[in-house]
Order: sequence, then structure tokens, then C-alpha cells
Amino acid sequence: MPQPLDSALAEVRELLLSPGLTRAVAAGRRRGFTPSVTRAELRPVTLRGGPHLQIVTDDGARPFTRNAAAGPAAATAVDELLAQPFGNWHVETAEVTLQLRVTKKGDAQVHRAAAAPPAASSAPAAASSAPSARAASPSAASSIPAASSTAATSRSAASSTAAASPSVASSTTAASPSAASSTTAASPSVAAASPSVAAASPSVAAASPFVAASPGKAPTPSQDHDRQKQWLLDPGDPLFQVIGGNAAKRRQIDAFLRALAATLPKSLPSSLRVVDLGCGNAYLTFAAYRYLAERVDSVQVVGVDVREDQRVRNTAVAASLGCAEDVTFVAGTIEDAQLPFAPDLVLALHACDTATDQALARAVDWQAQWTLAAPCCHHDIAAQLKGRPAPAPFGELTRHAIMRERFADVLTDSLRAALLRLNGYKVDVVEFIDSAHTPRNLLLRARRTAAPPTEAQRAEYEALTSEWGVTPALEKMLP
Ligand SMILES: C[S@@+](CC[C@H](N)C(=O)[O-])C[C@H]1O[C@@H](n2cnc3c(N)ncnc32)[C@H](O)[C@@H]1O
Repeated sequence: MPQPLDSALAEVRELLLSPGLTRAVAAGRRRGFTPSVTRAELRPVTLRGGPHLQIVTDDGARPFTRNAAAGPAAATAVDELLAQPFGNWHVETAEVTLQLRVTKKGDAQVHRAAAAPPAASSAPAAASSAPSARAASPSAASSIPAASSTAATSRSAASSTAAASPSVASSTTAASPSAASSTTAASPSVAAASPSVAAASPSVAAASPFVAASPGKAPTPSQDHDRQKQWLLDPGDPLFQVIGGNAAKRRQIDAFLRALAATLPKSLPSSLRVVDLGCGNAYLTFAAYRYLAERVDSVQVVGVDVREDQRVRNTAVAASLGCAEDVTFVAGTIEDAQLPFAPDLVLALHACDTATDQALARAVDWQAQWTLAAPCCHHDIAAQLKGRPAPAPFGELTRHAIMRERFADVLTDSLRAALLRLNGYKVDVVEFIDSAHTPRNLLLRARRTAAPPTEAQRAEYEALTSEWGVTPALEKMLP
């Protein structure tokens, strides 16, 4: 017997936000409407920060996974999905299996069945992924992936950089534009399906995404060892929902954090002061804060970017993440920005051209203990090489423009490393991420030893620069 869609969707909403949810799938489309994703699958997962609702949407090309913290974030995510004009909802809870089909007339055809008793084989997977899944029905047990498959989903989702539906990718704590617009366009009834919105699940906690993920603790699913190996910060971390960034950026940031982890000693001081120079949208700034806050008692991070609009945007993001006291932003040049402290750790990810040199020069000036800089474009040395013949017998290295450019890149970073060594740093140069992800994948890692340079090091630097007739930007910036 058909019933009004509003009340049926309100019932679906209640089940989706109930602690007994096992799994739900939304798919198909209503007559005359097209949802922004072809399918959405929801299930509860327990991350280190507590219970979350995992939502895997598919735009027809690739899946996209995100985790919304139980409470307002999950309620918002559910409301966005309910606003989509899906033709069918299938919801399994510990008590009931509900199937909703939207009829051609726009009513709801609802079928409810009591959940079958739990199957013995479902227990381990369910127990490790969500408490409520312990009483999963046999069908749910067979279709709910064990915790390890969550990682697989996320990995594939993470690699689906560009293809992740932008509307869904952006539909985080704030309603996505597409979801918001489809609320009115596709389903006026959904607004009315919201009486229960106010009476959201009792598990609702009004914490910020940062706090919800447990202060200072990365919410890597504690039960998922596979994923722990794969990511330092889970790409589904609510942090990313707030700061944004696509899957490629998340992968890049995670790789940078890995390099950071490999650079820092096991035992760290109880407090750390960090600067991210040329921070842009501050993906690395926040991710580094998140990672370091797990390792030390107190972390202060400052992001510096020449753009005032970035400062305003990033400061607002810090406030919404609940970390505005620890993560602050300064608008100014890397060369001149005034910091509230001399940092122990300097980060610079793709600061343009000689902005990387400015970052290294400031690190030396601050006597920062650790510096990690992934250079971006290189024009300084390339321009100097262009105007003069190469020393014999190296003419071939610079005869062709493309070879000259590549050689200039190598020479630039070699000279940067050499200058850091001459200034009391132990340096190595590594690829922090595969070149398939970004061609700008080199990383200069420097640890301050304060050791004076040897004569041989000085002589080698002098010979290299004079033979090639170049004066690196960094040399001019250093005292
Ligand atoms: C390619 S973006 C990288 C942003 C960020 N680090 C990331 O990887 O997502 C470079 C950023 O450096 C900033 N920038 C470039 N030169 C700068 C300078 N001299 N001083 C401060 N910021 C600079 C730009 O405004 C831009 O936001």
C-alpha cells in the first residue's frame, strides 16, 4: 500500500541514524529526476575517534568514501542523501530490513521485515567494524565487508582523484551545493521529511570534526591494521572534509607526512613549533598539526602565505576545526613574515621557484632543527645557464632546452643541499612520492647538526658554482 514519501523518508532517516544500523543502500532514480550519484552505501564504522557513518558514493565512474562522525555530521550527510531523488532505499538494522521504492506517482512503497537472527560467521567482521553490526542479518553479514575491505574501498576511492563526484566530495559538514539544490528541485518532500531531524539520534555529539576525532589522535580505524600501514592520516578523516582537497592532494600530504615521520627522531621534545611556508590552502599545515599533536603534548603551527585571502580562509578553517589557538596564519612573504616564535620545524611544500630558497634561508636563520622542503618550479639557475656556454666537456648537458631545464633542476637542488650542509645541516634528497602523482616529487630533508663545514665541502661548492658560472638565489639570501 503506497504511503506519503515524506513520512517514509522520515522513517528511513530514523533508521539510518539509529545505533542499530547495519547497512543501507540508496540507488535508482525517481521519474524525471537524476541523483548526483548513482549509488550510495552507508554503514557504521568505529574509528579511533568514535562511531562514524561511512558513506561510499559512486558517480558511475569510481567510488568515493567519506566518514561522518556520529552526530550532527552524520545527520547532515544523511539529510543530503535523503534529498537526492533516489528511486530506492534498502536499509538493514539489527531489528528490521526496510525497502522503500518510489512509485511513478511519487509515493513510497515500503516493505518491512524483521531482521533474521545473526549468523555465526558474521560476528568477527561485524564486531570489528561496528557494534551494531553484531546482530547483522545473514544477508547483511554477507554483504558487509569486513574491516579490511574498508581500507580497500578507501584506497580505491583515494586513487580516484579527479573522478570523485565534486558535488559529493564537497558535501561534508556543510551541505554540498548540488545536494542543496537537489533538495528543492528534486524532492520537496524531503524538507518535510525532516521533523525527525531535530530529534536526531541520541548519539549526536556536538563536537567539531577535530575534537570528534579525539584530541590529538588520528582517527585511523583502530581495528584496521592494513589501513594503518597505508595511511598516516586516513583519507576519510573528517579533517579532510573540512579543509577540502582532492584525493591526489590527500595522497601527497600523506606522503609528505611519511617523510616527516622518517625525519623526526623517535623521541621528540614535549612541545614543537612548526611553520609551513607558502601554505596555500593549508592542507599540509593542518595535517602536520594533526599528526604531530599525536606525538607531542603541545604543537603550535603557523602557516605563512603571501595571500591575505588564504589567511582569512585558513583562519576560519582552524576555528571550525577547533584548533585556532594552535594553528594560526600570517599573510606575508616567506622572506619577511613575522612569526610568534622561531620554529623547530620548517615545512615548505611546493613554494614557487625561489620561494623555496627563501624558506631554506629562513630555516637557516631560525636555526630550525628540521627542515623539509619539496621544491616547485625552478627558473633561477635555468635562466643563468641559458645565457652562457657550459664548461667543457659538458656542453651536451645544456645544448637542448629540455636537457638544460632538467639539468638546471638537478643543479639547483644540488646547490641548495650543498648550501644547507655549509650551514650546519645534514641533508638528504629523496623522492617523497611517486612521480606519477606529481613531477615535483623531490624533497630536501635537513637536520641541524651545527657542524662546521669541512674544507672539502666548501671547495666543492666553490668549484661547482664557478665552473658553471652560477650564483644560486639561496646563496644570496644567506648571511
Ligand atoms: C603551489 S602553492 C602550494 C601550497 C601548499 N603548500 C600546498 O602544497 O598545497 C604555493 C603557495 O605559495 C605561496 N607563495 C609563493 N611565493 C610566496 C612567497 N614569496 N611568500 C609567501 N607565499 C608565497 C602562494 O601564494 C601559494 O599559495
